[in-house]
Amino acid sequence: MTRPRIIVTRKLPDAVEERLRQRFTVAFNTADTPFSSERLVRALQVADGLLCTVTDLFDEQILQAEGKLNAKILANFGVGVNNIDLDAAEAQGLVVSNTPGVLTDATADIAMALILAATRRMSETEAMLRSGNWTSFSPTGMLGTGIQGKTLGIIGMGRIGQATAQRAQAGFGMKVIYFNRSKTGPFDFPAEARDSIEAVMREADVVSLHLPGGAANRGTISAERIGLMKKTAFLVNTARGDVVDEPALISALKEGRIAGAGLDVFAAEPTVPQALIDLPNVTLLPHIGSATVETRTAMGMLAVDNLEAFFDGTDLPSRVV
Ligand code: DGY
Repeated sequence: MTRPRIIVTRKLPDAVEERLRQRFTVAFNTADTPFSSERLVRALQVADGLLCTVTDLFDEQILQAEGKLNAKILANFGVGVNNIDLDAAEAQGLVVSNTPGVLTDATADIAMALILAATRRMSETEAMLRSGNWTSFSPTGMLGTGIQGKTLGIIGMGRIGQATAQRAQAGFGMKVIYFNRSKTGPFDFPAEARDSIEAVMREADVVSLHLPGGAANRGTISAERIGLMKKTAFLVNTARGDVVDEPALISALKEGRIAGAGLDVFAAEPTVPQALIDLPNVTLLPHIGSATVETRTAMGMLAVDNLEAFFDGTDLPSRVV
């Protein structure tokens, strides 16, 4: 039996690469640099399947490029699939899978870390220390905002939204309110639904975003909605940068219309607007929500499970289209 040919677009944890090697004929990306559009098109033309990730943009143009596509599956390393135009992929007969579930805890941990970092001014105060400007303990210096008893507003109460809410409620005594597009709950922790994003934006002391990226949610956290937030409130985003109107967020932060933000994702990664970098009241992370050895290995293994199921002709554990 001929072994399916898989192209892997980025370096993966060793155990995942080893498992791929055992079952497939694999081309790895030892340089670990993101594929160009041309290289993605070529990969679609020569491989039977791709193990790709969020840095690979499969838009309509790439998926409909001249020349017959040979690939039959895009096994995406990531729960988010906003890097793939799903309609165009389906039109080409491509199966798409993702990696839900295995990154829930790691991402919720980073959301919680950003809630704490933003409210306790960790980036700003650490920068002060590192630059040699810490002169003494001060009873009134570097004061942040306590979160106990404050309200966390979750937008998008899926797995990661719930895990973040649970941590904030059980571990830090926050009250949880949420908006979810479809009806969800009850949960095994107290959480109150609100009937609009606006209601959550208005009421929350910390708003944490957990909605999928892509066309459907682009700019959902608009200037108007940011404008509803309390002057004392914080915005945390571990979902996708494109769900927020980034220039509007920057204006609100600069003008002190909200208190601060914690961001792990950006609209045009890896580019981060200089205006955000210059703001002291923002903690910025380079998209590390799922970046633990355990989680990245589990994500890779789930992507391989999907590839194996596809080439075995069985049901995929996490098929998107
Ligand atoms: C995801 O899974 O979508 C993350 O953003 C990448 O780890």
